[in-house]
Order: sequence, then structure tokens, then C-alpha cells
Amino acid sequence: MTDKLIIFDTTLRDGEQSPGASMTRDEKLRIARQLERLKVDVIEAGFAASSNGDFEAVQLIANSIQDSTICSLSRANDRDISRAAEALKGANRARIHTFIATSALHMEKKLRMTPEQVLEQAIQSVRFARNLCGDIEFSPEDGYRSDVDFLCRVIEAVIREGATTINVPDTVGYAIPELYGNFIKTLRERVPNSDKAVWSVHCHNDLGMAVANSLAGVMIGGARQVECTINGLGERAGNCSLEEVVMAVKTRKDYFGLEVGIDTQHIVAASRMVSQTTGFVVQPNKAVVGANAFAHASGIHQDGVLKARDTYEIMRAEDVGWSANKIVLGKLSGRNAFKQRLQDLGVSMESEADTNAAFARFKELADRKSEIFDEDILALVSDESLTNHGEEYAFVSLSQHSETGERPHATVVFTASGSEIKGESDGNGPVDASLKAIEQHVQSGAEMVLYSVNAISGSTESQGEVTVRLQSSGRVVNGVGADPDIVVASAKAYLSALNKLHSKAEKVPAQG
Ligand code: KIV
Ligand code: ZN
Repeated sequence: MTDKLIIFDTTLRDGEQSPGASMTRDEKLRIARQLERLKVDVIEAGFAASSNGDFEAVQLIANSIQDSTICSLSRANDRDISRAAEALKGANRARIHTFIATSALHMEKKLRMTPEQVLEQAIQSVRFARNLCGDIEFSPEDGYRSDVDFLCRVIEAVIREGATTINVPDTVGYAIPELYGNFIKTLRERVPNSDKAVWSVHCHNDLGMAVANSLAGVMIGGARQVECTINGLGERAGNCSLEEVVMAVKTRKDYFGLEVGIDTQHIVAASRMVSQTTGFVVQPNKAVVGANAFAHASGIHQDGVLKARDTYEIMRAEDVGWSANKIVLGKLSGRNAFKQRLQDLGVSMESEADTNAAFARFKELADRKSEIFDEDILALVSDESLTNHGEEYAFVSLSQHSETGERPHATVVFTASGSEIKGESDGNGPVDASLKAIEQHVQSGAEMVLYSVNAISGSTESQGEVTVRLQSSGRVVNGVGADPDIVVASAKAYLSALNKLHSKAEKVPAQG
């Protein structure tokens, strides 16, 4: 058994399955680049057969990422597996991850198949996949609730067919650490060819134990791959959180005795990028990446930390990417300082033109706001209107009037397919008036399911970051906009969400 723990990130696949967290191809590529900077071993880039959009995203990531293995999920059938192989063609290192449910409940009620049929399909699929790719992961879906004798038969058979990784999902987050750890241990002991594959854990967080269960799978069960997502994003209560599992193994190396290849200094930027892209806000007290994770409010704690940091801190904030000096730039900062800061934050712009646009936007912001924080820069470079590459709608300008006792009125100028449109409307408040002014022309008919404003750096001088989540014909999309004027940020976020509604294709569910 090696002492390296493989980190398999599934933010772009399982994370994206979270209702409302769907991402565009370009957003996925941006996150994949950040995962590569983090030195994630395996990036599950999507589920290629689920939609043309997912196929293209997996393909783009496979063609663009150099260092990490790129993986596509696929159901256990030839068509899905062929689509995955096709999408992964350009990858330096490719993995096909195929799955079929093995619990009695799923086989009978969902698949309507007998155990023998499932076993046969698992064998055929891995055999087929192995002819297309040397690196094959197999997951018995709802594995933890499966009959152990049957599971042993399936796993032994797929390893014989050439599966190189066996992942045992706790699909519904039902496990308890000790029981899950022992379950993996039992499987490894009972499957005769278990040493021919790497064992992997994949835990959902329905009972809040995904990280604990994953670590038990590693320590008790001997698994050497953990499947996880940034910020624990994922269906229902989410998946095992990458930052928590990685920092646990690193901080308690005395106990785990395992190596992880993750460059932890990029963790906070990755967390911020995922939260901003999906509109899933990180709770302030979230371990490692929450705004308060390293804040000491009590006088006794502050005093202790000033005297000796390790009195109350078990990790260094800098080690996970919280910068020690938070005020970074101002209006006198030049282009080189700005570029350097982007580099320090782990942000790489796609082209020189994008860097120039970001710098121009930074200068505009610095004229309105004396101190520019890291968070401002990250918001600025994530603003989709900055790198608008042929999107349908783009923000131009906004004016609004609101006064106590009067109904607010807004005028919004934006472009649709390159033509300028001027929309005007009244509303309950200036934000409502502005979004109505846009909607009157666009007529999307979409329902707004979330509107949230977040002060990026915590003061009234701060930029407001607005997330708008729209739902239309069963599809849910997020738009994000940032500006010191929250009405402008709202209009940008609304247009960004409309752009996504305009461009997205239907998907089939991964656990269908
Ligand atoms: O939770 C699960 O069972 C999954 C599989 C598709 C691996 O995500
Ligand atoms: Zn899952």
C-alpha cells in the first residue's frame, strides 16, 4: 500500500449536480485551471454523454489541462462510455469512470434489473471501456447500502476485466465513520484480487459526516483515493469537502502518515471561484475557507495568538491562501503590480486582451474605491461582462431615481446581439425597477429563485457582489455581477443569468 493519497475532485461533475450550481463551459475551464494549480491528481470534468454542453466542457478541459488526469463519468453502457472516450481524446492522461447501482433498492426499483443482469452489465462495460482507455474507475452506485456478498462478486469481476480504481460511494450519505471504514476494509479483505486496484471513497454529506467517513475509509479501510469537491459542493447536503480533507491529512500528518500533492496556497482562491461561479455562498464559520476560519474575536484568544500563534491556531492562514496583508492595491498601482497580484492570487487571464480589460476595470474601480482588496480583484476578474466573448446580452449603463415616498424608476441600457436597447421601468425598489426594465425587452419569462447581495470586503465602500438564480423550463442558472453600485451589480448579474439561459443545453441526470 502506498502512502500517497490521491485527490479526485468532482466539483465539475457531482458538485455541478447540485440544483442551481450548473456552470458554463468557460466557467468549468476556469475552475479546472484552478484545480490544476491546486495540483489535484484527478479532475472529474463532467459527464460527457449527459448533454452536448457537458461533452464540450469535458473535451475543452481534456485539451487544455496538462498535469491532472481528466476523467469523465459514464453510465455502464457502450454509448456513454464511447462518448466519454471521445471527449477525453485530447487528454495527456484520461480516465473513464463508469458506474451502475448495486443496492437491492436501486436495482429493483430504479434499474428494474436483477442482480445477475447488473453484474453482467458491469462486466461488459468495464471490458468495453478498457479497450478504449487504460485508466478505468468503477463505482457500484449506492455501494454502501449494497449486499456485501453481491458487491464482492461485482468488484472482483470488474477488477478482472481491468478496472484500475474501485470507488465505493455512500451515495445517500447514510454511513457512520467506523462502519464505513470497516465496510471498505471488509471488501478489501474479501475480494481476492483487491490488491490490483486503488480503492477510493466517495461520501455524501446528508448527516454531516462526509469528511469523517472519507477519512475513516482511508484509515480503517485502507482507501488511497478520496473523491471530494471544493466547498463540499454537491447534491443535497453536498460531498466531502476537498479543503477539509486535505488540511486534515496535512495538519495531522502525525496520525495519517500520508502524502497529499495539493498546493494548499491556492485553496482560498479556488473556494472563492467556485462560490462566485455557482452563487453558493460559503458560510462564515466553514472550516478552512469560511471568512471567520482564522478570525479570533475573544480577547483571551487574541491575546494568546499575539503571544504565540499556535496557542489557538492549528493551521497557518497563509498556507491555505488567506493573504496576511489584505490591502493590496490602490489607484496609483501600475499594470505590473496588478499583473503580479493576479499571479499571486493564482489567476491567469486567457489572453493579453482580457488582462488589459481587467486592468482598465481595476483602474475604474480604484477611482471610486481607495483600497482594493484581494476579494475585489477576484470579483473583478470573475465578472463575465469583462471577458464577454460573443455573449447575447451585455451591460452598458444604468440610471435610476429613488426617493422616500416615490416609486423608484430605472433606465438600463444594454446590448442584445450587438444592438443597443434602452429599457425603462418602475419597480418596488431600484433593483426591481432595473431588472424589470431589462425583462420588458428580453421577455425571458424566467422565474427568479434567488437574489443575494454580498459586500465583498465588508464595508459600505465595498463592491457589492450580486447573485441572481433564474429558472426556466426546468433549467436553473446563476448569474453573478460585481460593482460598488449594487443596482448596477444586480443588472449585470441578471444579464449574466439571461446569457446562460440563452446558451445552455438540456442534461440527463447522472444518477438516472
Ligand atoms: O454518489 C454517487 O454514487 C456518485 C456515483 C455516480 C459515483 O456520484
Ligand atoms: Zn456522488
